[in-house]
Amino acid sequence: MGPGPSNVSPSVLEAMSRPLVGHLDPVFVKMMEEIKGMLRAVFLTKNEMTFPVSGTGSAGMEFCCVNLIEPGDDVVIGVNGVFGTRMVDVAERCGARVIKVEAPWGRIIEPAQIAAALATCKPKFVAVVHAETSTGALTPVEEISRLAHDAGALMVLDTVTSLAGCPVRLDEWGIDAVYSGTQKCLSCPPGLSPVSLSPRALQVATSRKKKVQSWYLDVNLLASYWGQDRVYHHTAPITMNYALHEALRLVLVEGLENRWARHQRNHKALKAGLAAMGLEIASQEGHQLWQLNAVRVPEGVDEMATRKRLLTDFNIEVGAGLGPLKGKIWRIGLMGETSNLANVCACLTAFGQILNDAGRRTDTEAALAAMGQSN
Ligand SMILES: Cc1ncc(COP(=O)(O)O)c(C=O)c1O
Repeated sequence: MGPGPSNVSPSVLEAMSRPLVGHLDPVFVKMMEEIKGMLRAVFLTKNEMTFPVSGTGSAGMEFCCVNLIEPGDDVVIGVNGVFGTRMVDVAERCGARVIKVEAPWGRIIEPAQIAAALATCKPKFVAVVHAETSTGALTPVEEISRLAHDAGALMVLDTVTSLAGCPVRLDEWGIDAVYSGTQKCLSCPPGLSPVSLSPRALQVATSRKKKVQSWYLDVNLLASYWGQDRVYHHTAPITMNYALHEALRLVLVEGLENRWARHQRNHKALKAGLAAMGLEIASQEGHQLWQLNAVRVPEGVDEMATRKRLLTDFNIEVGAGLGPLKGKIWRIGLMGETSNLANVCACLTAFGQILNDAGRRTDTEAALAAMGQSN
């Protein structure tokens, strides 16, 4: 129940134990086509250029930056947590001049802030982190995307934690470049980064003045492997693609809307139970993630000791706060397979016992009752 990797279905693990085939084997090539098709269905896009980059979510972040940025470009990036901060670093390494739009950690990036930044520059793209895993805040992106397009910029979105855990609608929202990760709400081990480029973003990447500085992440080269030419580029991680194929199949069997609703239900159950124990969600009300719950550490409670006891005595992993939130929050993940009522119940029970042992009067019975009545 940490911030990822989430638990993985046994059938995903089984898929990973299958014998290897070559990365140009007809069976694998067919599988690649199916993965691209299923990713389009999960991203809700018709983008032809949709495939998994070999590497974790950060590779997808780099993929978007290296392909779209040329040295000297302006880009606008929302920074309200660890991952916006990381994207600024990546974009600067590509030679961009970054105009940062900052919000306190735990709050969202407001469209008005983006509009103000756009009045000062002509950026290549505007980028935000949809679901900030470090803080538990979900930034709405439709309005921001509209503003970016009105200013002639592309819209880039980090969906590492949001994809398959809450609505992500690429085409409807006009997202031009997106990356995700396999290990959160897709419930697949870490190792691939699903990406998608709109025709407009692809045009930018293919008509650059300078070569993409990363050979490995250059979409101009990767397109020959993941497209119809099937030219060898790098040896695709076969086993990881087996896993993603099965994980995507499970997402689509459940149904996107059902999966989003499950994440919402279990978040509400956890939140209600925590509230009955006097614990509250620290991220901005109305914009709290369903898949990552940032819980404020109450005054006088030892954050690290609680987390350690959860792990050693209850076999429950939760995440710590990062940066300015270090020591101030626990991050409870309810992502993909991990998002179920049994886990919520176990987590509330464990918290109740630990807090009681620490001398706080915590009513676990009331928490479980509130959990049951939350939906
Ligand atoms: C929102 C977000 N973006 C990017 C990343 C980076 O992904 P990875 O750690 O898989 O490289 C993470 C990882 O947790 C994330 O939560």
